[in-house]
Amino acid sequence: MLDIKKRVKIDTKDQSLKRKFEYIVNSTGGFEIQPDDDKKPADLLIFELGTDTDHDFHVLQASLQSGTVNDVFLTSEKSDQDLLLQSIRIGAKEFFPQPIKDDEVKQALKKFREGAESGKRLKLGRLINVMGSKGGVGTTTIAVNLAVSLAGITGDNSVALVDMNIATGEIPLFLDIKPGYHWGEISKNITRLDSTFIMNVLSKHSSGIYLFSSPGTPGHEAVSPEAVERLLNIMRRMFDFVVVDCGQRLDKNSQKIHQISDTVLLTAILTVPCIANAKKIFKIYDFWGYPSKGKVKVVVNRYVKNSQLTLRDAEETFGQSILWSFPNDFQTTLAAINQGKPLTVIAPKEEITQSFKKFAATFIDRDQRTTKEERSLFKRWFS
Ligand SMILES: Nc1ncnc2c1ncn2[C@@H]1O[C@H](COP(=O)(O)OP(=O)(O)O)[C@@H](O)[C@H]1O
Ligand SMILES: [Mg+2]
Repeated sequence: MLDIKKRVKIDTKDQSLKRKFEYIVNSTGGFEIQPDDDKKPADLLIFELGTDTDHDFHVLQASLQSGTVNDVFLTSEKSDQDLLLQSIRIGAKEFFPQPIKDDEVKQALKKFREGAESGKRLKLGRLINVMGSKGGVGTTTIAVNLAVSLAGITGDNSVALVDMNIATGEIPLFLDIKPGYHWGEISKNITRLDSTFIMNVLSKHSSGIYLFSSPGTPGHEAVSPEAVERLLNIMRRMFDFVVVDCGQRLDKNSQKIHQISDTVLLTAILTVPCIANAKKIFKIYDFWGYPSKGKVKVVVNRYVKNSQLTLRDAEETFGQSILWSFPNDFQTTLAAINQGKPLTVIAPKEEITQSFKKFAATFIDRDQRTTKEERSLFKRWFS
């Protein structure tokens, strides 16, 4: 059934301002005002910033991320540049300086209603599955550094990294993070899986990415493909990119991830056994019936010029071009792992780091660099 009326919550410090907003919302049409004690997610929150704006922004960001509100309009007695920048940063759609202008609010509500109706919010984040064609070829290195490099372009809170190596996960080591929660929690709580729950089990890394860890201990193998699918589908609504370190797994969970991935990066090095393995994996994909050829891209790691097996050889074997090749740099990649830091932090200038940055940029649509909302707010206030 189509939910035609958009639910609006109004939260202002000042009661007469609240009544004013209620009046405008009701006279615009297509909206339904949600009572304060109604805990259902709101399509739109109209919020008046108080004196402790840091706290307000923090709470707003958490509500947006967890999906308890879908979009936010802000208003405030003050409207200095700092406040506006922070509003843009958390993704607020509008900012009304006080005293508010009825007409301006009405126009914004109409625009919001139309935008919401065209299904703009339904755009899902891209699921990138990094799959090793063999152990030790750099699958984790690529997943971690791709995720961090993507976040370097799209900003905080837009990228998540998921470790599928349930018993032997290494990402916490790569990023020097001690996750409190992990897959173990998911298998116990599948019915509670929603964005609020997921937000609580993710660890945030200083690079801005969110991490869904593996316990790295035995006894959590009970995770089902249904739980994996549910988790990833919810995460795709929360993030622009969800990068999965699938390891070399070809079990039921991995099969499910392959089925729902937008892109599979099959990671290989230019050795005969590795290329032969990658070829076998393509046969398995044929057998499964997915992922389709167009979704699977081969990336070559540890590439050296003049290697015996060439990129051309690999391309002929797979019948498709190699999407990317990362240079061989054992020292830097190992130093990054040993120090538990991404390449951008320990060696920002090295060729390997630059290669990751350029690779990440190929995944970014032009409009993701500055979102439409940012541009319109920017235009209005700073041009
Ligand atoms: N581009 C690269 N050049 C040289 N060594 C690399 C490169 N990428 C990864 N390595 C090294 O390969 C080893 C295995 O990397 P890892 O990412 O753990 O692989 P996997 O997840 O496939 O087991 C690490 O010691 C790492 O330093
Ligand atoms: Mg690994």
